[in-house]
Amino acid sequence: MQQILNTLIINTLYYSEPMSLLILSCHFKEPPCTIDRFMENPKTYFVRTYGCQMNELDTQIMTGQLEKRGLTAVCDEEEADVVIFNTCSIRDLAERKVMGKLGQLGRGKKRQIIGVTGCMAMAKKDSLFRKFPHLDFVVGTNNITDLGPVLDEVIYTQKQVYKTDDRFEENLDYLSAKRDHKVKAFVSIIRGCDKFCTYCVVPYTRGQEVSRPPESIIEECKKLVDDGYKEITLLGQNVNSYGKDEPSWNCLFHDLLAKIDQIPGIGRIRFMTSHPVDITKELMLAIRDLPSLCEFVHFPIQAGSNRILKKMHRIYTKEQYFEKVALLREIVPDVSLGTDIIVGFPTETEEEFLETYQAIEQIRYSLGFFYAYSPRKGTPAMRWKDDVPEEVKQDRLQRLLDLQEKIGNDLRKEKTGNTYEVLVERFNKDGKLLKGRTRRWEKVIFEGPESMIGTLQNVRVHSYHHETFLGTLVHSETKYHN
Ligand code: 5AD
Ligand code: SF4
Repeated sequence: MQQILNTLIINTLYYSEPMSLLILSCHFKEPPCTIDRFMENPKTYFVRTYGCQMNELDTQIMTGQLEKRGLTAVCDEEEADVVIFNTCSIRDLAERKVMGKLGQLGRGKKRQIIGVTGCMAMAKKDSLFRKFPHLDFVVGTNNITDLGPVLDEVIYTQKQVYKTDDRFEENLDYLSAKRDHKVKAFVSIIRGCDKFCTYCVVPYTRGQEVSRPPESIIEECKKLVDDGYKEITLLGQNVNSYGKDEPSWNCLFHDLLAKIDQIPGIGRIRFMTSHPVDITKELMLAIRDLPSLCEFVHFPIQAGSNRILKKMHRIYTKEQYFEKVALLREIVPDVSLGTDIIVGFPTETEEEFLETYQAIEQIRYSLGFFYAYSPRKGTPAMRWKDDVPEEVKQDRLQRLLDLQEKIGNDLRKEKTGNTYEVLVERFNKDGKLLKGRTRRWEKVIFEGPESMIGTLQNVRVHSYHHETFLGTLVHSETKYHN
């Protein structure tokens, strides 16, 4: 395909090692295929979301903008006038899924406007146009607020447009986000990450940490409470860093939590994700003292060997991590912990993997996400040979999955017979039993009327199946393990 770069407006341009971050708003002349399948007045949209909760929230913000323009959602992407892929780059598999889907789209008879947003937009930028000539726009993670103007530009110039700023500017219209759940909502408090773990693309795809002003967060939380939401999850790649980039606000993460806890009528507050280094004693005390703050911390260790942790640039040792866990458990006994683990990081030996295995055995997480290392372009780890064979990675993954299943079952056995406060979220998949979660993130299903959705109920858990407790409603005066 012959593409001539016609206009290249470089707003800012700077390079940062190891991946160059280029801030561009540009379009290409004479795209070979956009003109004949061009849509002037799009009426419907479909967004396919990949990856983490941050992406889910970005999708809600984007769909809020699309609906404000009068577009309505459709369930079939082949039918939509505007199709957006909100993408993830964290592992190779995530990118391959999107590439496969993008290849299939745009081949039908219907004229569609097709866009890529999210982390792949940042990682691949305009190279996506070369690979997928039927693509109309690429919008980066820091530009979701520009979706409307970009759509207009596509429509009026009939050119491929991309916008991928390196820095996030705090002007998002959070209040118009289109939420798909009536009980629980995500609220973004900080975007980006400054930690630069050597395996991770996030600092390059989402940029540096930018905290959102506390007033804006409180305003959104108040609105959500007024709208009847019972649980708010505060989101960020590293929520514990909140406020450090804006010392004049005098509002660190635990200060923010205290302010949100004060909102009249607030239900539950959760947060994710936490970097172990930034988990402070003040935060632990907040979990103990703030009634709305739930006792679950997703607190990824990533590896149990100090040599690997150092190579990952995790900036803590196994011993320091264990100390934090011990202090947290001393301050909040019965707190539940979650983790992420990467197996098969370059040069990881069997002995080093066993250190990870033993760390999990010792800590007894209630939730674990395990990943095989996937080399990512632009990260420092990419310079190292991906030398752990795929079969070895898969074997290590399986051993961790088996271990976690055993730990999870043991924890559930210990809890069986207790009564817990459950926030009822919806009907279970079977459409008969209600489904909710305890404060410690355990899933519970039980029999009850639809009117209980969105309420707190006391449920005695009498058994479990896989990761789900089965329970029965108990009268509210019964004592429960909050
Ligand atoms: N390969 C495998 N897993 C990764 N993660 C991040 N980058 C990679 C990678 N290159 C995992 C980490 C992180 C989670 C969201 O994804 O465990 O906590
Ligand atoms: Fe990635 Fe590390 Fe930042 Fe988490 S803390 S987003 S793993 S760079």
